[in-house]
Amino acid sequence: MNKFTFSYPTKVYFGEGSAAEALGAELGKVGENVMLAYGGGSIKKNGVYDEMKTILEQAGKKVVDFSGIMPNPTYAKVQEGAALVREHHVDFILAVGGGSVIDCCKVVSAQAVIDEDIWDMEYGKGKFPAAGIPMGAVVTASGTGAEMNAGAVITYEEKKWKGPVFGTGAAFAVLDPAYTMSVPPMQVLSGAFDTLSHAMETYLGSSDQDNVSDDVALAIMRNTVVNMRRLLVNINDMEARSNLMWDSAMAENGILKCGRLTDFQAHQMEHQLGAYTDCNHGQGLAVIHPAYYRHIVKDAPEKFTRFAKEVFGADTAKEGIEALADFIRECGLPTRMGELKSRVEITPQILRQVADTCNIIKCNPRELSRDEIYEILMECL
Ligand code: NZQ
Ligand code: ZN
Repeated sequence: MNKFTFSYPTKVYFGEGSAAEALGAELGKVGENVMLAYGGGSIKKNGVYDEMKTILEQAGKKVVDFSGIMPNPTYAKVQEGAALVREHHVDFILAVGGGSVIDCCKVVSAQAVIDEDIWDMEYGKGKFPAAGIPMGAVVTASGTGAEMNAGAVITYEEKKWKGPVFGTGAAFAVLDPAYTMSVPPMQVLSGAFDTLSHAMETYLGSSDQDNVSDDVALAIMRNTVVNMRRLLVNINDMEARSNLMWDSAMAENGILKCGRLTDFQAHQMEHQLGAYTDCNHGQGLAVIHPAYYRHIVKDAPEKFTRFAKEVFGADTAKEGIEALADFIRECGLPTRMGELKSRVEITPQILRQVADTCNIIKCNPRELSRDEIYEILMECL
């Protein structure tokens, strides 16, 4: 196993009704001014906003709203949030939403306490934030696992770039599967596919020693597939939602990454595709994964064979990849670029730009050239 350091800074409150318990235990530790951060309004429709606001006000907090955090949160939105934190002397940020709201708040938290531009600091100087405004996360749409790590994925529109910006991790996270019941079915499945992707991308990193992390990753993959199938039968299956919510957190809280290198090349392609198209993250991954794996299957035949057998009950590496492609179709997730909701038509020219600007991973089964990435993306057109 590779050398690693592991710590678990986020306290998780899991299960129905856990928000009241969590906030009851945690709010006494934070200051008076609380920023309540959320997205485009789903929490106002499903009652979660009112519930949070009541709990905060009953705890004697002054609440400042930070609303309108969009899917694929932008760098401009981060700066808006940081300015609001400074203006209202915010002591604590409560991020209530999916990965986009949580990610935006992680970077708001860090940006608010430093004078320099955080992107310049991280990408120009290689310096990362050491502190931030304390925050908590209430997950309303699961899949990204954003609630249990400090890395955010931000879209910097002017730079035509989507990628990681490190911020502050949540001190605590509320995972109440009942809060996900109002998520549109396609988003539920897209989020769950993101979880499956995280486990696959971690498992396919180039460290090929026997590793307990691989066993755990395969278990998460199996459980995610089983519970996505349960949702295809009954989208309101609470037990399936619960399992998927914890699968999501497990896949990105670092446990699967202990002692190993990771792949994440499909994510790099999808992130840049998102920078150009603003497509849904999980759906972009669903389009890209099978094509990427058909390219690299020969470079990790044993790992792909084990994946095939243990996740899809298929006999060979190639059959496993086709079973994954069939599963994506079974879920009704997009399989071609043209099926993605995009702000521009996805043309070969766009895909060339995606290929020319995405990060290239060096610890996947085989490092890809930009031309091969373009070929993969074109196979998805
Ligand atoms: O904005 P609102 O109105 O809340 O609607 C959202 C949004 O339209 C809706 N939604 C959320 N909870 C809901 C709900 N609708 C009804 N009822 C609820 N309870 O769902 C839509 C999608 O939300 P979003 O947060 O964008 O989805 P997701 O959780 O998939 O997050 C995607 C973002 O996370 C990044 C992605 O790149 C993307 O920017 N990722 C973050 C990662 C991390 N930090 O570890 C890892 C991932 O690989 C990923 O890159
Ligand atoms: Zn992801």
